[in-house]
Amino acid sequence: MPTRYDYTGKDVQDVYDGPGGLLWEAVMSEQIHSGKDEVTDRMAAAVGLKPGMHVLDVCSALGAPARQIAKKFGVKVTGLDFTKTMLTKAIERTKTAGLDNLVTFVDGNALDMPFKKETFDVVWGQEAWCYVANKDQLMAEAARVLKPGGKLIFTDWVITGKVEEPLLAKLYESMAFPYMETLQGWGDLMKKYGLKNIKVEDQTEEYAKCFDEYKKMVEVDLKPIIVKNFGNDLFGFATGLVNLWRDAAHAHQVGRGWYQAEK
Ligand SMILES: C[S@@+](CC[C@H](N)C(=O)[O-])C[C@H]1O[C@@H](n2cnc3c(N)ncnc32)[C@H](O)[C@@H]1O
Repeated sequence: MPTRYDYTGKDVQDVYDGPGGLLWEAVMSEQIHSGKDEVTDRMAAAVGLKPGMHVLDVCSALGAPARQIAKKFGVKVTGLDFTKTMLTKAIERTKTAGLDNLVTFVDGNALDMPFKKETFDVVWGQEAWCYVANKDQLMAEAARVLKPGGKLIFTDWVITGKVEEPLLAKLYESMAFPYMETLQGWGDLMKKYGLKNIKVEDQTEEYAKCFDEYKKMVEVDLKPIIVKNFGNDLFGFATGLVNLWRDAAHAHQVGRGWYQAEK
């Protein structure tokens, strides 16, 4: 059982309601995950999205992946998130993009999804479930709301190698993560909740390369903007964070896990 740290949902909401949300968007793009829209396209291809399907994006943030798949594949998407700022921006941007007929957002907790069982053809998540304090319950919820024969697909920041406790504590503190799953830990949870045809892939090399880009963005391209808008302390925090995660990714201690399964 991985060590749990005392970061709560409120800590996560404070990050995404505050400068953290703006910073992540500036560094990663409106798609707040490594690999941007290209990874979203790959996930869509992997589950074979088709018009009329209903997708649940768990922890949808600004809603960019939801808009992308709705626009490209004609799917209906429900985004679930519990941070007000993210939800407000997601709704505004979706309306501006003229996609509000296909994409809607619901204010709710991934640990207690406000949906009936067997509602969705696809349950989807991109690099956010690392924030959730009870991953067992999250997987139980994901499996519950999925239709029989439906598909689960998600990526997450996971432990991919050996990480000693002091470094792990620093990594979690920098992000307000209660803990990260191990690469295989998510696979075990999918099995526990009866999912089949489970696929687990270690994408740490790709993830580490994204951090090379983030390092340049924070230390060079965005430096004047971060210092001007948020001050030197936040700039120092951002450079420290990016270097910490970049080093751990290149050492293959942490990375991106890719997960697929069927109900
Ligand atoms: C890294 S962002 C997600 C990025 C998004 N999936 C994307 O690819 O653009 C993390 C999001 O997870 C949301 N979140 C974290 N824990 C949550 C929970 N328990 N329930 C609902 N939303 C949660 C946060 O509010 C935040 O908007």
